[in-house]
Amino acid sequence: MAITTKRAAIPERTLRTDRWWLPQLSTAAGLLVFIGYSTWRAFSGTHYYAAPYVSPFYSPCLATNCVPMRGGADWAVIGDWWRLSPALLVLIFPLGFRMTCYYYRKAYYRAFWASPPACAVGEQHAKYTGETRFPLILQNLHRYFFYLAIPVAVILTYDAVLGFRDASGAFGHAGLGTLVLLVNVALIWAYTLSCHSCRHIVGGRLRNFSKHPVRYRAWQLVGRLNTRHMQLAWASLASVGLADLYVYLVSSGAFSDPRFF
Ligand code: FES
Repeated sequence: MAITTKRAAIPERTLRTDRWWLPQLSTAAGLLVFIGYSTWRAFSGTHYYAAPYVSPFYSPCLATNCVPMRGGADWAVIGDWWRLSPALLVLIFPLGFRMTCYYYRKAYYRAFWASPPACAVGEQHAKYTGETRFPLILQNLHRYFFYLAIPVAVILTYDAVLGFRDASGAFGHAGLGTLVLLVNVALIWAYTLSCHSCRHIVGGRLRNFSKHPVRYRAWQLVGRLNTRHMQLAWASLASVGLADLYVYLVSSGAFSDPRFF
């Protein structure tokens, strides 16, 4: 059933005197920068592999038009008919995960739709139907995107481990790129595990914790991460963009990867 509510009859739009619009402005700016950069990189289809580093935007590379990575064989399950950038086949999963994330929903509802503009600031929209109708009812898919985000994080972990190779494929080496991929995957895991759906999956639907000590412990850990969900959302968003940028710079020859050993 659709929910419709009437607004309280208060003439002032808000009684707040602080700069309540500042977080929304910076959120919009941050998201627009990332959307602009990631759209350009996702459609470019180039410079996403600089041995042994693979950009997180292009992993796993599922199409046959991927450059040979990981010593030649990737997971090319999509046939020759795919002509577009291979990033478009995989970005749908992290994109869906972030678009339906509880934090990002709050962030972009406020920053782009002003619905609501901020706490205790009147909304301009005449009607409020929440997330009860298409398309916003699809936000309920978040839990399923969480399930899909786990294999993506596992694959990025695999990529980070492969970063300990040299360009010839021999293990036991590391460069600045290895560190970049490691930091990125650590933040991706922290963000993924701090998800509200994860918290519910781990500790929800239990009558008492005393009979489920392992789940209780896991729920406590996830709960601790969950309190930092917003910070982790931004940190992992920045790190995934920077990891891609790093691979792009090395691959395009604009920067040479410093090797530690
Ligand atoms: Fe943000 Fe699940 S609530 S990722």
